[in-house]
Amino acid sequence: MDSILVTGNGPLNGQIPIAGAKNACLTLMPATLLSEEPLTLTNAPRLSDIKTMTALLQSLGAEVSALQDGQVIAMSSHDLTSQTADYDIVRKMRASNLVLGPLLARFGQAVVSLPGGCAIGARPMDLHVEGLEALGAEIELKDGYLHAKAPGGLKGAVHEMRFASVGATENIVMAATLAKGTTVLKNAAREPEIVDLVECLRKMGAQISGEGTSTIEIQGVDRLHGATHQVVTDRIELGTYMLTPAICGGEVELLGGRMSLVSSFVEKLEAAGVSVSETEKGLKVARKNGRVRAVGVVTEPFPGFPTDLQAQMMALMCTAEGTSVLEERIFENRFMHAPELTRMGAQIEVHGGTATVTGVEQLKGAPVMATDLRASVSLILAGLAAEGETTVSRVYHLDRGYEHVVRKLEGVGAKIERIKGE
Ligand code: EPZ
Repeated sequence: MDSILVTGNGPLNGQIPIAGAKNACLTLMPATLLSEEPLTLTNAPRLSDIKTMTALLQSLGAEVSALQDGQVIAMSSHDLTSQTADYDIVRKMRASNLVLGPLLARFGQAVVSLPGGCAIGARPMDLHVEGLEALGAEIELKDGYLHAKAPGGLKGAVHEMRFASVGATENIVMAATLAKGTTVLKNAAREPEIVDLVECLRKMGAQISGEGTSTIEIQGVDRLHGATHQVVTDRIELGTYMLTPAICGGEVELLGGRMSLVSSFVEKLEAAGVSVSETEKGLKVARKNGRVRAVGVVTEPFPGFPTDLQAQMMALMCTAEGTSVLEERIFENRFMHAPELTRMGAQIEVHGGTATVTGVEQLKGAPVMATDLRASVSLILAGLAAEGETTVSRVYHLDRGYEHVVRKLEGVGAKIERIKGE
């Protein structure tokens, strides 16, 4: 397994290009199943999760080709051969469950493995099942697979979700596009990736309104046609790289960044003493001198502070002046980066869903282990600011969500290299 060697190297300066959003692409790709006409995505990120979704769609019989070095994904699901998403793919990536709604809507049946737990939590699918059953689907769990059918097709309904689940919102909205009648989805998730999905579905002929609010209304149509859609900028990659000048000092411009994608995150950065400004190419982030100030963080559904930036923000707070409390309210086990940061001299106390971080003057480089996607990049951030060398092992986690990390960070002056493993 490869590892990444980072050596603290002082302030960072320059530009970092931000890629298309992994979590938008992972719901846009299954949308191809809703139509027999081609769907093409541009500005797609080059990530292992995208390769996993490609393999899943191909296992269903869809044609999926990566063009222009993976930045364009051309898909067609005219001749599907299967409606079964196998455990061996789904267990690797939970987002595989996003084929459930589209398969059910187009073919009236789907067999999708339950993803099983992952490092950050149990991650059940009850909210997905409740929403699809509200549209008339019959779903039963057998041998670890959800067997779903809607022989007479799905019917529009009014449904309120118990929690604003991102994935459940995406599955229900995609299914409702081909249901008979109107669907009103209440307490829907409001993430930008959902807005991006709806904009793509609308290009395919779907009748949807309310995206980005808690109530989304969908008028079912008989069929959807093909489209070409540009994947929205990745707000989590954006937020992650905004932290590089914050934690190391210096000034970095994030190309393609938009304030509206990270407004609650920017509020916290500014409260910590980091300056953020819009340029015509994106966002400029600078920390001129002195340490950042400790700030409290509570993770919430969008537009609240994103859980996917909690680990990265913790790395910054490890170097802040004062004590900060980070509360993780979305996942039950998302502090696995804490013990690794402690190995670098951080002072963190975790009690249940709350981590109390007392900032230190200087982190010290150390060998650390990545445990999940966002934890891995928080260790890289800490290593950039630490004195000496940090080796982050198991960087396959990193490859799931961050393209060309070494090249992007070298571009702003970081001392970082990838060490080939056996
Ligand atoms: C999406 O996961 C993202 N993944 C996650 O990003 C992100 O952390 C999460 O939304 C929250 O923003 C993709 O978009 C591919 P949820 P998802 O359904 O849809 C519980 C990353 O790092 N829940 O909003 O799975 C669940 O256990 C990844 O890029 C149920 O209880 O998130 C969790 O505690 C990590 N029942 C909470 O809700 C359900 O049926 C949020 O889950 C569904 C979810």
